[in-house]
Amino acid sequence: MPESKTLTIKRPDDWHVHFRDGAMLATVVPYTARQFARAIVMPNLVPPVTTITAANAYRDRIAAAVPEGVAFTPLMTAYLTDETDTDELANGFEQGVFSAVKLYPAGATTNSASGVTDISRVAGVLERMQDIGMPLLVHGEVTDPDVDVFDREAVFIDQVMSQLVADFPALKVVFEHVTTRDAVDFVADQSGPVAATITAHHLVINRTDIFRGGIRPHLYCLPIAKREVHRQALRAAATSGNAKFFLGTDTAPHAISVKETACGCAGIFSAPTALEVYAGVFDEEAALDKLENFASLNGPAFYGLAANTETVTLERAELVVPESVISAEGEAVQPFQAGETLGWRLA
Ligand code: NCD
Ligand code: ZN
Repeated sequence: MPESKTLTIKRPDDWHVHFRDGAMLATVVPYTARQFARAIVMPNLVPPVTTITAANAYRDRIAAAVPEGVAFTPLMTAYLTDETDTDELANGFEQGVFSAVKLYPAGATTNSASGVTDISRVAGVLERMQDIGMPLLVHGEVTDPDVDVFDREAVFIDQVMSQLVADFPALKVVFEHVTTRDAVDFVADQSGPVAATITAHHLVINRTDIFRGGIRPHLYCLPIAKREVHRQALRAAATSGNAKFFLGTDTAPHAISVKETACGCAGIFSAPTALEVYAGVFDEEAALDKLENFASLNGPAFYGLAANTETVTLERAELVVPESVISAEGEAVQPFQAGETLGWRLA
Protein backbone atom coordinates (compact mmCIF):
# COMPACT_ATOMS: atom_id res chain seq x y z
CA MET A 1 0.00 0.00 0.00
CA PRO A 2 1.47 3.43 -0.89
CA GLU A 3 2.36 5.51 2.15
CA SER A 4 0.15 8.54 2.51
CA LYS A 5 2.09 11.78 2.67
CA THR A 6 -0.30 13.72 4.84
CA LEU A 7 -2.70 13.06 7.66
CA THR A 8 -5.61 15.35 8.54
CA ILE A 9 -7.30 14.98 11.91
CA LYS A 10 -9.62 17.04 14.04
CA ARG A 11 -7.56 19.58 15.96
CA PRO A 12 -6.20 17.80 19.05
CA ASP A 13 -6.20 18.82 22.72
CA ASP A 14 -3.52 18.24 25.35
CA TRP A 15 -5.02 16.84 28.55
CA HIS A 16 -1.96 17.46 30.77
CA VAL A 17 0.36 20.49 30.60
CA HIS A 18 2.53 22.55 32.94
CA PHE A 19 2.77 26.19 31.87
CA ARG A 20 4.48 27.60 35.00
CA ASP A 21 4.19 31.37 35.35
CA GLY A 22 5.90 34.66 34.50
CA ALA A 23 8.63 34.63 31.85
CA MET A 24 8.53 30.83 31.51
CA LEU A 25 4.78 30.90 30.88
CA ALA A 26 5.20 33.52 28.16
CA THR A 27 7.87 31.36 26.53
CA VAL A 28 6.09 28.01 26.54
CA VAL A 29 2.39 28.76 25.99
CA PRO A 30 2.77 29.50 22.24
CA TYR A 31 4.20 26.01 21.61
CA THR A 32 1.15 24.30 23.06
CA ALA A 33 -1.29 26.77 21.49
CA ARG A 34 0.26 26.17 18.05
CA GLN A 35 -0.84 22.52 18.06
CA PHE A 36 -3.67 22.12 20.52
CA ALA A 37 -7.06 23.81 20.77
CA ARG A 38 -7.42 23.21 24.51
CA ALA A 39 -5.21 22.02 27.33
CA ILE A 40 -5.73 20.87 30.89
CA VAL A 41 -3.44 23.17 32.86
CA MET A 42 -1.86 21.68 35.95
CA PRO A 43 -2.12 23.76 39.12
CA ASN A 44 1.28 23.03 40.71
CA LEU A 45 2.47 26.62 40.94
CA VAL A 46 4.08 27.97 44.09
CA PRO A 47 1.72 28.57 45.85
CA PRO A 48 -0.61 26.09 44.14
CA VAL A 49 -3.87 27.07 42.43
CA THR A 50 -6.54 26.23 45.00
CA THR A 51 -9.18 28.94 44.59
CA ILE A 52 -11.54 30.24 41.91
CA THR A 53 -9.86 33.65 42.14
CA ALA A 54 -6.39 32.20 41.61
CA ALA A 55 -7.56 30.03 38.70
CA ASN A 56 -9.27 32.96 36.96
CA ALA A 57 -6.15 35.11 37.33
CA TYR A 58 -3.90 32.30 36.08
CA ARG A 59 -6.19 31.67 33.11
CA ASP A 60 -5.96 35.36 32.19
CA ARG A 61 -2.14 35.28 32.36
CA ILE A 62 -2.14 32.24 30.06
CA ALA A 63 -4.58 33.90 27.65
CA ALA A 64 -2.29 36.95 27.48
CA ALA A 65 0.57 34.70 26.34
CA VAL A 66 -1.36 33.17 23.42
CA PRO A 67 -0.14 34.64 20.14
CA GLU A 68 -2.45 36.99 18.21
CA GLY A 69 -4.82 35.10 15.91
CA VAL A 70 -4.39 31.72 17.64
CA ALA A 71 -7.47 30.14 19.20
CA PHE A 72 -6.56 28.36 22.41
CA THR A 73 -8.61 27.60 25.52
CA PRO A 74 -6.86 26.76 28.79
CA LEU A 75 -8.90 24.41 30.98
CA MET A 76 -8.08 25.13 34.60
CA THR A 77 -7.65 22.68 37.45
CA ALA A 78 -7.67 22.96 41.24
CA TYR A 79 -4.88 21.57 43.39
CA LEU A 80 -6.27 19.24 46.04
CA THR A 81 -4.89 19.59 49.57
CA ASP A 82 -5.84 18.11 52.93
CA GLU A 83 -7.57 21.43 53.67
CA THR A 84 -9.49 21.85 50.39
CA ASP A 85 -12.86 23.56 50.75
CA THR A 86 -15.41 21.35 48.99
CA ASP A 87 -17.72 24.25 48.15
CA GLU A 88 -14.91 26.21 46.49
CA LEU A 89 -14.26 23.29 44.12
CA ALA A 90 -17.90 22.56 43.44
CA ASN A 91 -18.70 26.24 42.84
CA GLY A 92 -15.68 26.57 40.56
CA PHE A 93 -16.82 23.55 38.56
CA GLU A 94 -20.39 24.77 38.31
CA GLN A 95 -19.18 28.23 37.18
CA GLY A 96 -17.02 26.62 34.50
CA VAL A 97 -13.77 27.85 36.05
CA PHE A 98 -12.43 24.47 37.15
CA SER A 99 -12.55 21.59 34.67
CA ALA A 100 -11.08 19.09 37.13
CA VAL A 101 -9.17 18.56 40.38
CA LYS A 102 -5.55 17.37 40.54
CA LEU A 103 -4.45 15.00 43.25
CA TYR A 104 -0.75 14.96 44.03
CA PRO A 105 0.28 12.65 46.84
CA ALA A 106 2.29 15.03 49.08
CA GLY A 107 5.92 14.98 47.99
CA ALA A 108 5.42 12.83 44.86
CA THR A 109 6.88 15.26 42.31
CA THR A 110 7.77 18.86 41.40
CA ASN A 111 5.84 21.36 43.56
CA SER A 112 3.71 18.75 45.32
CA ALA A 113 4.60 19.66 48.91
CA SER A 114 1.03 20.88 49.60
CA GLY A 115 -0.51 17.70 48.21
CA VAL A 116 -2.72 15.14 49.92
CA THR A 117 -1.16 13.18 52.79
CA ASP A 118 -3.89 10.52 52.96
CA ILE A 119 -6.88 9.91 50.67
CA SER A 120 -9.14 9.42 53.70
CA ARG A 121 -8.70 13.14 54.44
CA VAL A 122 -10.34 14.13 51.16
CA ALA A 123 -13.14 11.54 51.12
CA GLY A 124 -15.80 14.24 51.57
CA VAL A 125 -14.44 16.20 48.60
CA LEU A 126 -14.35 13.09 46.41
CA GLU A 127 -17.92 12.22 47.38
CA ARG A 128 -19.09 15.64 46.20
CA MET A 129 -17.03 15.47 43.01
CA GLN A 130 -18.59 12.11 42.23
CA ASP A 131 -22.06 13.62 42.72
CA ILE A 132 -21.45 16.56 40.39
CA GLY A 133 -19.39 14.72 37.76
CA MET A 134 -16.14 16.63 38.41
CA PRO A 135 -13.09 14.64 37.22
CA LEU A 136 -10.22 13.72 39.54
CA LEU A 137 -6.79 13.73 37.89
CA VAL A 138 -4.35 11.53 39.76
CA HIS A 139 -0.58 11.57 39.93
CA GLY A 140 -0.36 7.84 40.61
CA GLU A 141 2.81 7.26 42.60
CA VAL A 142 3.33 6.38 46.25
CA THR A 143 5.73 8.66 48.06
CA ASP A 144 7.24 6.21 50.58
CA PRO A 145 11.01 6.78 50.14
CA ASP A 146 11.59 3.09 50.82
CA VAL A 147 9.63 2.07 47.71
CA ASP A 148 11.89 1.74 44.67
CA VAL A 149 11.29 4.68 42.33
CA PHE A 150 10.56 2.30 39.43
CA ASP A 151 7.86 0.54 41.48
CA ARG A 152 5.99 3.55 42.78
CA GLU A 153 3.24 3.52 40.16
CA ALA A 154 2.52 -0.21 40.48
CA VAL A 155 2.52 0.03 44.28
CA PHE A 156 0.14 3.01 44.05
CA ILE A 157 -2.36 0.85 42.16
CA ASP A 158 -2.33 -1.74 44.95
CA GLN A 159 -2.25 0.66 47.87
CA VAL A 160 -4.42 3.55 46.67
CA MET A 161 -5.98 3.41 43.21
CA SER A 162 -7.83 0.08 43.55
CA GLN A 163 -9.51 1.26 46.74
CA LEU A 164 -10.23 4.70 45.31
CA VAL A 165 -12.19 3.36 42.33
CA ALA A 166 -13.95 0.82 44.56
CA ASP A 167 -15.00 3.50 47.06
CA PHE A 168 -16.09 5.99 44.38
CA PRO A 169 -17.34 3.83 41.50
CA ALA A 170 -19.00 6.73 39.66
CA LEU A 171 -16.13 9.21 40.13
CA LYS A 172 -14.47 10.24 36.87
CA VAL A 173 -10.80 9.45 37.33
CA VAL A 174 -7.85 10.08 35.02
CA PHE A 175 -4.76 8.06 35.88
CA GLU A 176 -2.28 10.66 34.63
CA HIS A 177 0.83 9.90 32.57
CA VAL A 178 0.73 6.13 32.98
CA THR A 179 4.13 4.47 32.57
CA THR A 180 3.56 0.78 33.28
CA ARG A 181 1.81 -2.23 31.84
CA ASP A 182 0.24 -2.56 35.30
CA ALA A 183 -1.45 0.84 34.96
CA VAL A 184 -2.55 0.18 31.38
CA ASP A 185 -4.12 -3.13 32.41
CA PHE A 186 -5.72 -1.58 35.48
CA VAL A 187 -7.37 1.19 33.46
CA ALA A 188 -8.45 -1.11 30.63
CA ASP A 189 -10.08 -3.45 33.16
CA GLN A 190 -12.25 -0.79 34.83
CA SER A 191 -15.92 -0.78 33.99
CA GLY A 192 -16.37 2.67 35.56
CA PRO A 193 -15.34 6.09 34.21
CA VAL A 194 -11.58 5.58 34.59
CA ALA A 195 -9.22 6.76 31.86
CA ALA A 196 -5.52 7.51 31.41
CA THR A 197 -3.27 10.00 29.68
CA ILE A 198 -0.10 8.84 27.93
CA THR A 199 2.82 11.19 27.26
CA ALA A 200 4.79 11.33 24.02
CA HIS A 201 8.09 10.75 25.79
CA HIS A 202 6.96 7.58 27.57
CA LEU A 203 6.05 6.16 24.16
CA VAL A 204 9.59 6.85 22.97
CA ILE A 205 12.04 6.25 25.82
CA ASN A 206 12.57 3.46 28.30
CA ARG A 207 14.66 3.61 31.46
CA THR A 208 17.82 2.53 29.70
CA ASP A 209 17.67 5.63 27.51
CA ILE A 210 18.09 7.80 30.62
CA PHE A 211 21.61 6.35 30.98
CA ARG A 212 22.57 5.87 27.33
CA GLY A 213 26.23 6.87 27.04
CA GLY A 214 26.00 8.84 30.29
CA ILE A 215 23.32 10.33 32.51
CA ARG A 216 20.75 12.35 30.57
CA PRO A 217 18.98 14.80 32.86
CA HIS A 218 16.59 15.97 30.14
CA LEU A 219 15.06 12.49 30.07
CA TYR A 220 14.36 12.56 33.80
CA CYS A 221 10.72 13.01 34.72
CA LEU A 222 8.19 11.58 37.13
CA PRO A 223 6.85 9.03 36.88
CA ILE A 224 10.26 7.89 35.61
CA ALA A 225 10.40 5.91 32.36
CA LYS A 226 10.24 2.16 32.97
CA ARG A 227 11.50 -1.02 31.25
CA GLU A 228 10.94 -1.71 27.57
CA VAL A 229 8.00 -4.08 28.21
CA HIS A 230 6.16 -1.17 29.77
CA ARG A 231 6.91 1.16 26.87
CA GLN A 232 5.53 -1.50 24.54
CA ALA A 233 2.35 -1.76 26.63
CA LEU A 234 1.91 2.02 26.47
CA ARG A 235 2.33 1.99 22.68
CA ALA A 236 -0.23 -0.78 22.37
CA ALA A 237 -2.72 1.08 24.57
CA ALA A 238 -2.29 4.45 22.84
CA THR A 239 -2.70 2.98 19.36
CA SER A 240 -5.51 0.57 20.29
CA GLY A 241 -8.34 3.02 19.72
CA ASN A 242 -9.62 2.22 23.24
CA ALA A 243 -11.45 5.38 24.34
CA LYS A 244 -9.98 5.13 27.85
CA PHE A 245 -6.57 6.32 26.60
CA PHE A 246 -5.86 9.82 25.38
CA LEU A 247 -3.17 12.39 24.76
CA GLY A 248 -1.57 14.25 27.67
CA THR A 249 1.98 15.41 27.10
CA ASP A 250 2.90 16.34 30.69
CA THR A 251 5.14 18.94 29.06
CA ALA A 252 7.01 20.22 32.11
CA PRO A 253 9.58 22.92 31.34
CA HIS A 254 12.48 23.58 33.67
CA ALA A 255 15.41 25.91 32.87
CA ILE A 256 18.52 24.05 31.70
CA SER A 257 20.28 25.42 34.79
CA VAL A 258 18.03 23.41 37.13
CA LYS A 259 18.05 20.26 34.95
CA GLU A 260 21.83 20.03 34.45
CA THR A 261 22.90 20.17 38.07
CA ALA A 262 23.81 17.92 41.00
CA CYS A 263 20.14 17.45 41.94
CA GLY A 264 18.15 18.06 38.79
CA CYS A 265 14.40 18.70 38.55
CA ALA A 266 11.95 16.15 37.17
CA GLY A 267 10.14 17.17 34.01
CA ILE A 268 10.45 16.86 30.22
CA PHE A 269 9.60 19.82 27.98
CA SER A 270 7.90 18.23 24.99
CA ALA A 271 5.54 20.99 23.83
CA PRO A 272 7.52 22.22 20.76
CA THR A 273 7.06 18.97 18.81
CA ALA A 274 4.63 16.88 20.85
CA LEU A 275 2.09 16.15 18.14
CA GLU A 276 4.84 15.32 15.64
CA VAL A 277 6.38 12.83 18.09
CA TYR A 278 3.04 11.12 18.67
CA ALA A 279 2.49 10.95 14.90
CA GLY A 280 5.87 9.26 14.46
CA VAL A 281 4.97 6.66 17.10
CA PHE A 282 1.58 5.92 15.53
CA ASP A 283 3.26 5.66 12.14
CA GLU A 284 5.84 3.17 13.48
CA GLU A 285 2.98 1.14 14.97
CA ALA A 286 1.10 1.24 11.63
CA ALA A 287 -1.76 2.93 13.46
CA LEU A 288 -2.02 6.41 11.96
CA ASP A 289 -5.74 5.74 11.55
CA LYS A 290 -6.01 5.70 15.38
CA LEU A 291 -4.21 8.99 16.03
CA GLU A 292 -7.39 11.06 15.81
CA ASN A 293 -9.12 8.91 18.43
CA PHE A 294 -6.20 9.27 20.82
CA ALA A 295 -5.37 12.92 20.17
CA SER A 296 -8.71 14.52 19.33
CA LEU A 297 -11.73 12.38 20.25
CA ASN A 298 -11.21 10.26 23.38
CA GLY A 299 -10.24 13.14 25.67
CA PRO A 300 -13.22 15.40 24.93
CA ALA A 301 -15.57 12.40 25.20
CA PHE A 302 -14.26 11.60 28.67
CA TYR A 303 -14.50 15.22 29.84
CA GLY A 304 -17.99 15.56 28.35
CA LEU A 305 -16.93 18.16 25.80
CA ALA A 306 -17.46 18.34 22.05
CA ALA A 307 -14.50 17.46 19.85
CA ASN A 308 -12.97 20.39 17.99
CA THR A 309 -14.48 21.13 14.59
CA GLU A 310 -11.42 22.56 12.85
CA THR A 311 -8.67 20.22 11.61
CA VAL A 312 -4.87 20.06 11.48
CA THR A 313 -2.77 18.43 8.80
CA LEU A 314 0.48 16.61 9.48
CA GLU A 315 2.87 15.88 6.65
CA ARG A 316 5.61 13.33 6.27
CA ALA A 317 8.65 15.62 6.21
CA GLU A 318 11.83 16.15 8.19
CA LEU A 319 11.64 18.40 11.21
CA VAL A 320 14.67 19.18 13.35
CA VAL A 321 13.80 19.70 17.02
CA PRO A 322 15.29 22.99 18.27
CA GLU A 323 18.37 22.67 20.54
CA SER A 324 16.81 25.05 23.01
CA VAL A 325 14.06 27.57 23.49
CA ILE A 326 15.07 30.88 25.05
CA SER A 327 12.77 33.15 27.03
CA ALA A 328 12.70 36.93 26.81
CA GLU A 329 14.69 36.95 30.04
CA GLY A 330 17.35 34.74 28.48
CA GLU A 331 16.46 31.55 30.31
CA ALA A 332 17.06 28.46 28.14
CA VAL A 333 14.91 25.32 28.17
CA GLN A 334 15.86 22.17 26.28
CA PRO A 335 13.04 20.38 24.44
CA PHE A 336 12.59 16.63 24.32
CA GLN A 337 14.79 15.11 21.56
CA ALA A 338 16.64 18.41 21.03
CA GLY A 339 18.62 18.36 17.80
CA GLU A 340 17.04 15.14 16.54
CA THR A 341 15.20 14.84 13.24
CA LEU A 342 11.53 13.79 13.29
CA GLY A 343 9.61 12.32 10.37
CA TRP A 344 6.41 14.31 10.66
CA ARG A 345 5.59 18.00 10.92
CA LEU A 346 2.52 20.19 11.07
CA ALA A 347 1.72 21.43 7.58
C1 NCD B 1 6.08 17.80 36.63
C2 NCD B 1 6.50 19.24 36.85
O1 NCD B 1 7.69 19.54 36.62
O2 NCD B 1 5.67 20.07 37.24
N1 NCD B 1 7.26 16.99 36.52
C3 NCD B 1 7.35 15.78 35.91
O3 NCD B 1 8.41 15.16 35.98
N2 NCD B 1 6.34 15.28 35.25
C4 NCD B 1 5.18 17.37 37.72
C5 NCD B 1 4.46 16.09 37.42
O4 NCD B 1 3.55 16.06 36.58
O5 NCD B 1 4.81 15.08 38.02
ZN1 ZN C 1 2.46 16.65 35.14
